[in-house]
Amino acid sequence: MKTSPGLLLVCILNWLCMAMAHAQPAIFQGADMKLGAQLIQEHQCASCHVNKVGGNGDAIYKPQGRIQTPALLRGMVEHCNTELNLSLFPEEVTAVAAVLSRDHYRFK
Ligand code: HEC
Repeated sequence: MKTSPGLLLVCILNWLCMAMAHAQPAIFQGADMKLGAQLIQEHQCASCHVNKVGGNGDAIYKPQGRIQTPALLRGMVEHCNTELNLSLFPEEVTAVAAVLSRDHYRFK
């Protein structure tokens, strides 16, 4: 039996959709997502946010709020980095912002 062209098309479309779901804004291209997630855990970002918004702290990330671009998000993380004395390297700041973008802000 030969593979139907229709099935092949479905596969390609499927793959395209998956590729797009994983697309990241240019400034987060190549960011180390594993490192970002690890840093967010390590620096207990959530535990402090919980104090402010309750729940699991995720409500602090307001996609429709003042942060509307990837650059602003990265800037906010940079600001926290300085403010909280985290001493993150620039690529670590980018990694953290990239994870927040993927999980909460969903910038394209
Ligand atoms: C000492 C407490 C504290 C810690 C620790 C902390 N934050 Fe926050 N963060 C806040 C508070 C408070 C706000 C909300 C400010 C407001 O709503 O005016 C905030 C807001 C934010 C926002 C903006 C949300 C939005 O869309 O407006 C981002 C992004 C953020 N924090 C990232 C981080 C990251 C990443 C870390 C860990 C590296 C972190 N924060 C650690 C207290 C903290």
